[in-house]
Amino acid sequence: MSLKDFWYIVCETKDLKANQVMGIALLDDWIALYRTSEGKATAIKDRCLHRNARLSKGRVINGELVCPYHGWKYGDQGKLLGVPSEGAQHTPRASLCVPHFDVVENEGYVYVRLSGERVEEKLNSQPFSIPYFRQQGFQHIRLKHIFNAEVPNCAENFIDIPHTTYVHPGVFRYEKQPQKIKAEVERENGNVHIRYQNETSNFGWFSKFLNPSNKEIYHEDHYYFPNITHVEYQFGHRMKFNITSQSIPVGPSKTVVYTDLTFDYGIWNWLARPFVYWAAKKIISQDVQIMGEQTQVIEKYGELFNSTRSDLHHIWIEKIYSDLRLNKDPRVVGNQKQNIEFFI
Ligand code: FES
Ligand SMILES: [Fe+2]
Repeated sequence: MSLKDFWYIVCETKDLKANQVMGIALLDDWIALYRTSEGKATAIKDRCLHRNARLSKGRVINGELVCPYHGWKYGDQGKLLGVPSEGAQHTPRASLCVPHFDVVENEGYVYVRLSGERVEEKLNSQPFSIPYFRQQGFQHIRLKHIFNAEVPNCAENFIDIPHTTYVHPGVFRYEKQPQKIKAEVERENGNVHIRYQNETSNFGWFSKFLNPSNKEIYHEDHYYFPNITHVEYQFGHRMKFNITSQSIPVGPSKTVVYTDLTFDYGIWNWLARPFVYWAAKKIISQDVQIMGEQTQVIEKYGELFNSTRSDLHHIWIEKIYSDLRLNKDPRVVGNQKQNIEFFI
């Protein structure tokens, strides 16, 4: 099992237009992404068979990708269709084909899998399905940000509670009398689940709106290997708020993060929408800043983390991701469960 065995978002469906080619970086590969004349998304290695020009710098004409150097033409899944210098009658050998990758479009995203291997049909035959996406009653907001950080550090950040008081003061949480939080942390094969207890409102000035009676909040965080986090909140009986983040490794210390927010605030849904959008943009840009600075230090001095007990889920995520980098199956460790406590 390796990082190449999983589905990664390469763009939003709406951004992959007919008769256009996109250049995509993913892990250590370069991809040329385009649509055939039938509108089917095709992902091929971004290297022309002829003299290795970058195909993503070419043009798509009637669903055929034309190399920018000498005009060789490619069709579905990188099949070579024509060589202009040989004349219109020339038929290229059928075996001439640029290496291609699996593509799936789901929930408004285009996903690519580099390895083409089905490690286990049930594990990764389809991309992750975003919880509550297009579910009745739920609003949806989608955001994209570029983090100068590695995937595991991004994933950790998205399910890290103690930083919120310091990085997002006032917006997400505020410093007050420290509140003791308990959590059950479970490592379930390669996934990590955190279920919080006795968390009450500490959400800055909009606590009054989300949780006016200050009831205990239902809160779970999940990490699905290798690159997905999902955060789920429920306030009182009705108000629900979820954040799904997919961290895409596009280069060394560079991660594109797609965030899907789904929320059901009942009658407040439409009124809340601009506010949720504004708050999410602000919170994520604060994370982009702190993560970029963390990366600068790691690049200068190397990564040397000291963890405490409340960092348990982060330690597990780092281990799972590093196993995958080494082509090891992170699930062999099996299930573990521990309770932790910390203050926010
Ligand atoms: S390099 Fe692509 S056609 Fe020559
Ligand atoms: Fe944050």
